[in-house]
Amino acid sequence: MSFKEKVIYQIYPKSFLDTNQDGVGDLAGIKQKLPYLKRLGIDMIWLSPIYVSPQRDNGYDVADYTAINPLFGTMDDFDELITAAKELGMEIMLDMVFNHVSTEHEWFQKALAGEQKYQDYFILRNEPTDWVSKFGGNAWAPFGDSGKYYLHLFDVTQADLNWRNPAVREELFKVLRFWLAKGVKGFRFDVINLIGKDEILADCAENDGKPAYTDRPINHEFIQMMNKATYGADPEVVTVGEMSFTTVENCILYTRPDREELDMTFNFHHLKVDYEDGKKWTQMPFDFAKLKELFHTWGTQMSAEQGWNALFWNNHDQPRALNRFVDVDNYRVAGAKMLASAIHLNRGTPYIYMGEEIGMLDPDFESMEQYVDVESLNAYQALLAEGKTEQEAFEIVKTKSRDNSRIPIQWDSGEFSGFSKVTPWLSLGKSAKEINVAKELQEGSIFSYYQKLIRLRKEYPIIAQGSYEAFLAEDPQIYGYIRRLEEQSLLVLNNFYPQETTIELPEEFLTGEILINNYPNEKLIEKLTLKPYQTVAIYR
Ligand code: GLC
Ligand code: CA
Repeated sequence: MSFKEKVIYQIYPKSFLDTNQDGVGDLAGIKQKLPYLKRLGIDMIWLSPIYVSPQRDNGYDVADYTAINPLFGTMDDFDELITAAKELGMEIMLDMVFNHVSTEHEWFQKALAGEQKYQDYFILRNEPTDWVSKFGGNAWAPFGDSGKYYLHLFDVTQADLNWRNPAVREELFKVLRFWLAKGVKGFRFDVINLIGKDEILADCAENDGKPAYTDRPINHEFIQMMNKATYGADPEVVTVGEMSFTTVENCILYTRPDREELDMTFNFHHLKVDYEDGKKWTQMPFDFAKLKELFHTWGTQMSAEQGWNALFWNNHDQPRALNRFVDVDNYRVAGAKMLASAIHLNRGTPYIYMGEEIGMLDPDFESMEQYVDVESLNAYQALLAEGKTEQEAFEIVKTKSRDNSRIPIQWDSGEFSGFSKVTPWLSLGKSAKEINVAKELQEGSIFSYYQKLIRLRKEYPIIAQGSYEAFLAEDPQIYGYIRRLEEQSLLVLNNFYPQETTIELPEEFLTGEILINNYPNEKLIEKLTLKPYQTVAIYR
């Protein structure tokens, strides 16, 4: 099966299922729930980092790339997980954090101790640039008492690696070969468009310095080298690059098959349409016109130039899309299905973030004490420093924090919602009693809607292979697109608002068949009314 036909499910291991009652999810918990994932119908499971790590950034600060963090279990647990998944026809995708390592990694420790070989693994300078760390503050920190500075685009404990050094590249390629030999069939590459830094690093006042270190031409060369040296030999391996602050032009280059870089890329532009002036730590209703324009630009250009998108609404870095784009007090269920259709029928490979398939919501925390994410805690302090009151700063963190999606999965209505028998590492969501897997499987309809979307992708080649064109680009409520493959067409209409709206259905679709709909099936008439958050897909 090509990566275009697959559906990938993301697990944040800390919060999936705890089997040894220490309050933290583990590999055995994932294995236990494989039948549930099989029932959903997904093909591949992406695990956020499970390696040895001090967990300053929940595993995105890796201290040993080829050892399992005892918090999650053992290498035997991992081997068992791969085998059990394979028996059920599912594969494992691992998260590769190759832009930086934890400062506890032995490479950094040896560098600090003075070993020149390892100092060349990092980006050390006598003078820092003006770049701002993505988690706040300057992106450079003193390197011991050497008088030099090391670059950390993220937390001060995440030191950027020097990809210009061939020895660094070989170390990382060895890591990929290690996991490939274990039967891993997919890699998600963390912020992989930041690995290629220029020889001379320049100040850059624009956008916190991002243009100076993002999507540099040499970045593409490094990915091509990685492809050739490792996964490129195996057409079954699926690769996806997480792209920070990128452009459609670059994503075409990263994913066009003849370039031999990656299968697909995640970009985040559509998840910034509720950022005021492009700034994350603000509050603003989403800008629908901008959202549509982004989907249409990316859809059309990637389609025309043979690029490939990873499609998603949620991940471990984003508050739940339901809370951002839908009036959840009144339309949680219809809205969840509409959002799902909007991306699963789109051109690209869809990703489901754990809990999305039951319509989980942000947790609705009551105080700052409940937050643990390093970025959120830094942002709170920065907001206070800017002059916001504690209440104002808290409200912003509450809508924007990454912890929103990192809370434990709500399995049932029990004391710790079936996630654990002890207090979990991160507070549970307030809605756990009403929204949980047990209830959803019994009387809900979101899970079965996802099942159907996944099934349709396998049954109708137009979903994986069709081209993309915008439909009703100017409509103030509808995000619509048409997919085409030879003689077939698929029209997808999504109403992003709690009000009805009427559109003119093009003649060619009047005789079509409704593939999926989140309201009882409609008659296909020229003046078609879409109900609140209605989605309907018409095939002919
Ligand atoms: C990516 C990860 C995020 C992490 C960051 C640094 O954006 O998804 O969770 O904090 O990279 O590794
Ligand atoms: Ca555990």
